[in-house]
Amino acid sequence: MSKKSTKTPLPTPLEARAEMAQLAEKIAHHDTLYHQKDAPEITDAAYDTLRARYRALHQAFPDQVPSHDPEEKVGAAIAEGFSKIKHSVPMLSLGNAFTDQDVEDFEARLRKFLNLDETVPVTWMAEPKIDGLSASLRYEKGELVLAATRGDGQTGENITGNVRTIKNIPHKLSAPFPDILEVRGEIYMDRPSFFALNKKRQEEWETVFANPRNAAAGSVRQLDSQITASRSLGFFAYGLGENTEKSIRYQKDLRYHLKRWGFTLNEPSRLCNGTKELLAYYHEIEAARHGMPVDIDGIVYKIDAFDWQERLGFVARAPRWAIAHKFAAEKAETKLTNILIQVGRTGALTPVAELEPVNVGGVMVSRATLHNEDEIKRKDIRVSDIVTLQRAGDVIPQIIKADLKRRPKNAKAFVFPDHCPACDSLAVREEGMAVRRCTGGLVCPAQALERLRHFVARTAFNIEGFGEQRLRELWEDKLIQTPVDIFTLKKHRETLAVREGWGEKSADNLIAAIEARRTISLSRFIFALGIPQVGEATAKLLARHYLTLSTWRTSMKKAQDPENEAYLDLIGIDQIGSSIATDITAFFAEKHNIAVLEALEKELSIESYTPPPSTGSPLEGKIIVFTGTLAKLSRIEAKAKAETLGAKVGGSVSAKTDYLVIGANSGKKAEKAEKLGVKVLNEEEWLAILKDY
Ligand code: IVH
Repeated sequence: MSKKSTKTPLPTPLEARAEMAQLAEKIAHHDTLYHQKDAPEITDAAYDTLRARYRALHQAFPDQVPSHDPEEKVGAAIAEGFSKIKHSVPMLSLGNAFTDQDVEDFEARLRKFLNLDETVPVTWMAEPKIDGLSASLRYEKGELVLAATRGDGQTGENITGNVRTIKNIPHKLSAPFPDILEVRGEIYMDRPSFFALNKKRQEEWETVFANPRNAAAGSVRQLDSQITASRSLGFFAYGLGENTEKSIRYQKDLRYHLKRWGFTLNEPSRLCNGTKELLAYYHEIEAARHGMPVDIDGIVYKIDAFDWQERLGFVARAPRWAIAHKFAAEKAETKLTNILIQVGRTGALTPVAELEPVNVGGVMVSRATLHNEDEIKRKDIRVSDIVTLQRAGDVIPQIIKADLKRRPKNAKAFVFPDHCPACDSLAVREEGMAVRRCTGGLVCPAQALERLRHFVARTAFNIEGFGEQRLRELWEDKLIQTPVDIFTLKKHRETLAVREGWGEKSADNLIAAIEARRTISLSRFIFALGIPQVGEATAKLLARHYLTLSTWRTSMKKAQDPENEAYLDLIGIDQIGSSIATDITAFFAEKHNIAVLEALEKELSIESYTPPPSTGSPLEGKIIVFTGTLAKLSRIEAKAKAETLGAKVGGSVSAKTDYLVIGANSGKKAEKAEKLGVKVLNEEEWLAILKDY
């Protein structure tokens, strides 16, 4: 079968540079979410798509690579802000067994290794495997002195301050204790606390955690210990790292001592003789686990005798004397009755499967996520299919497959809508992105509150008196639906004054706060619109480039056509690439947005951009383009300096360019500049101009 070609035309170097910078920023953002915040926002597949696109551009345009090149970074295990701790004894992981047979094979291998006669019994300690975040706690003379995450097994993060806030972790050990003792275990969040935390986060418009493991990890990796303290976390101890206590010779005794020192243990545990007893215990817990308050993802079997553990030693990063027997993800079959499209508060359209209710591992499920458009296509899932569902620790079940044999003849492939089901605005999907987004940001009810909150925020319109709660109330009562309604709110003064908890004074104060913001700078106004990817910095770039709202608006209308000069002008702005340009033009393509924009214009006085006062510098108002690598200044510094001296920095050479500054390995720009009669400066000449300023 030949793969369908999805080749896209090669971008120009300028576009490639802008796109790479965009991608690098997105990749870094998702890396942080994944590695440091434990809250990924996109699927692994979507992340891989970003990476693949970046890699392709990187290969085609090696000289356009941004300064923070994601290709140079491998993973990001250590969060910024935590110091690193080298583990004195490495923190290992465990090999996995999935079937009863795997467990039998494991014991057989181990018997062979130890050369055990069939008559010699093998004694194991079996305990629940808790799905959390592993940590090592170091006690010196009985006092907790250091706590670290596992990290890569050799080096972890110092989380001492946060660990001290976990209630069942002793700060002092009960005597007698060894001089040095490192206790290893799992930090976890129980299910009731997890659901309560997510409920609270949902109410406060924060992203929810997918599972208790992410919630525990996210709570521990907080730079502010107060936040960790506010989360309900616990710790189960299961092993030791460095320690000066040499008298403990069995796993069973270790449990006894851990308990005596003051730790909570993974329960219920069982001492078992041979595989048969292990499996009996495993199946008992498997059946009972849904009733337990903590998420368990399997059972850990450990050889009880430490002398055997020592003889067995390690392979790679896992001990030969222990194994994790994982529970299979819970599965069930049911009929898919409908596919709904939900609109998130950032405008993302997510397909959700409606199902005939079915019990999956003790939970009744009637909905499941289908992730995105490609996922439905890839799995070819259709309405009225019999589908297999799976729950693997996560709250939201997944659909793994449809049974093609049982598909009704008339089942049609699902057509993903290209309009938002909440507001009927166009929904667009950017190249390389998995998500389709509604472009009706200002009018879409699904996004309304979030947009309004952004609109009045300190960095945007900065209207005092619009707390989260108040805004929500006014929105729910339909007094404010779009940003325009904020500026016409005064006609509801009497209604406001008699609202419960308000009064004349609150109503007047709010109206006065709104009036005080009727005049606004162009860049704040642009930022307030909440166009995806248009943050404060980009809004400033746009304001500086277009100077007035009407020029910007007219240009953006023209820029709908990528062949139009206006589009080239837009992506020609340094730091604005095709990805941002797509979001901006999509915003202007949506007539609902234009209607709000026009209505806002009537209510407001939007100040044109005024360049900073004259510095008398020779660069005042000049358009400068940089190319190649500068030896003395980074590109960012050179640009910043030029801008403080009143210059505009462009991305490509045109007849309007005043100077082209060339560094080493510059491309074709110099030729073009000469053709157009643009003055070309080398780095020395450029620095000479800057010298006096
Ligand atoms: S014993 C040498 N016991 O599971 C490593 N680990 O997938 C010995 N875990 O890194 C680990 N519950 O973080 C052990 N009862 C338990 C456990 C447990 C959870 C974690 C631990 C380990 C990971 C391996």
